Amino acid sequence: MLLIGHRGAAALAPENTMMSFRKAMALKVDMIELDVHVCSTGEIVVIHDETVDRTTNGSGAVSDLSLSEIRELDAGLGEKIPTLDGVMDIFFGKVGINIELKGKGSYRPVGKTLEKYLANKEPKHGDLLVSSFKPDELLDLSDLGQDIPMGYILEDHVEMGLEFASEIGAWSVHPRKDLLDVQLMNEVRSRGLKVLTWTVNDQNWLKKVTTLGVDGIFTDDPELVSF
Ligand code: G3P
Ligand code: CA
Repeated sequence: MLLIGHRGAAALAPENTMMSFRKAMALKVDMIELDVHVCSTGEIVVIHDETVDRTTNGSGAVSDLSLSEIRELDAGLGEKIPTLDGVMDIFFGKVGINIELKGKGSYRPVGKTLEKYLANKEPKHGDLLVSSFKPDELLDLSDLGQDIPMGYILEDHVEMGLEFASEIGAWSVHPRKDLLDVQLMNEVRSRGLKVLTWTVNDQNWLKKVTTLGVDGIFTDDPELVSF
């Protein structure tokens, strides 16, 4: 089963920062998960929300801020908001990376960035995974023809979601943990998709989802969830 550090190790370090990714890696996760938006100057930055308000000492929409303005912010304990390139430079090839497309249209610059990193390396499943709640982002990414492994995140309209994931040739679906049951697991299996569930932060949920036979869990605390 894949252990995936959610926003790095969000319970142990400021989320979506280099410190958080290093912490997750030190705790031997198989993959780190991170969220991306595009800033006003076109770079891809690693942040969960549409604004910098909750996670930094600044305010405003990511899409209105330049990279230099964003890099001046404190994302917690003196950490900066990373760029996707910065994360890829350090972690790609050392730990699996799950990039979640948050911002509208982020598939395009992400596809461009990945082209560079994949030039000499065909990713094995588990090395790289691009996911989203947004069908359009994944559809448009798949249209780029780069053969990037994809995961569709499910939190409602489960039937339609599974159909969509099959249609785009996704590797995995990522149901919210309370959606999981035997029937869903059987349906996903019959489609040949992997199941990665979020966000599992305690032993009770860990037991429930492992009993159902999921292929991976996202957790804020890789230390708490020890195998
Ligand atoms: O990809 C799983 C999970 O990260 C989705 O929820 O809000 O934490 O990005 P969120
Ligand atoms: Ca996420």
